[in-house]
Amino acid sequence: MTVIKEERIGGQRLILGDCREVMPTLGRFDAVVTDPPYGIKRDKGVGVGGSGFGGKRGEAVEVRRFRGGWDAARPAAEVFEAILSSAPCHIVWGGQFFADILPAQGKWLFWDKCQTMPSFGDGELAWTSLSGDAVKQFTYNGSGLHAKEKARSHPTQKPVALMEWCLGFVPDAETILDPFMGSGTTLVACQRLGRNGTGIELDPEYFRIACERVDEATRQPDLLIAPPAAQPVQEPLL
Ligand SMILES: C[S@@+](CC[C@H](N)C(=O)[O-])C[C@H]1O[C@@H](n2cnc3c(N)ncnc32)[C@H](O)[C@@H]1O
Repeated sequence: MTVIKEERIGGQRLILGDCREVMPTLGRFDAVVTDPPYGIKRDKGVGVGGSGFGGKRGEAVEVRRFRGGWDAARPAAEVFEAILSSAPCHIVWGGQFFADILPAQGKWLFWDKCQTMPSFGDGELAWTSLSGDAVKQFTYNGSGLHAKEKARSHPTQKPVALMEWCLGFVPDAETILDPFMGSGTTLVACQRLGRNGTGIELDPEYFRIACERVDEATRQPDLLIAPPAAQPVQEPLL
C-alpha cells in the first residue's frame, strides 16, 4: 500500500505515505522544495504553544512533546536520485548533511536565524540545483517579536516566510513536490503564492497537522495573489 490517505485542500494535495514508495507513482513536477530528515536526531525536544516563547508572564503555557523517531538516519542515496529525477530544479534544506550525496553545485541558500545564543547555529543551509553560484541569504528571526508564527508543531518546522522566499527562486514552477512534508510549511507557502503543491508525510499526526495548516491558509488568502486551482485527480502511474 503506497498511499495510505490523501487529501486535496485548496490547490494542494497531501499524501500520507512513505515517499520512497509514493514518489515513483507521481510523475514529474516543475520543482522539488523539501526538508528531509538530517540524521542528527533533531526529532527530540518539546514545543511551546501560546503567545511567544514561554507565553506572557504568569500565563500557563502549553508544552507539547514532539513526535520523534524520524531523524535517526538521513535518506539513502536512492531517495535523492528519485528527488533529482522528479523535477528539473530542486531546493533541499539541510543541504550540508547531504553534500556528499548531492551533485557539487554553486548556488546555496542560507537562512540567517538572527541567533543570539552562542552555542546555537547561526542558521541553516539549502542545497539547490539552480543556476548561478551566488549564495543567497534570508534573514528572519522565527522566534522574535515580529515572527508571524509563534508556536511550532514540528521540531524542524520552517517559517512560512522562508519557504515563500525559496519559491521566489523558481517563479515559473507551478507544480511543487515536497516528499518530506512534515507539518506542511512548503504547501502553506504554495497555497499562499498560488502554486500547486504535493506533499508526502509518513507520520499520521504530522500529516493531520499539515492538513490543518493548509486548510487555515485557504481561509487566509493573500488578496494580491490568485489562489491556486484545485489539482486534477490523476490515476497513479503504477
Ligand atoms: C525535517 S522534517 C520536515 C519539516 C518541515 N519542513 C516542516 O516545516 O514542518 C522531515 C519530515 O519527513 C518525514 N519523513 C521521514 N521519512 C519519510 C518518508 N520515508 N516518507 C515521507 N515522510 C518522511 C518525517 O516524519 C518528518 O516529519
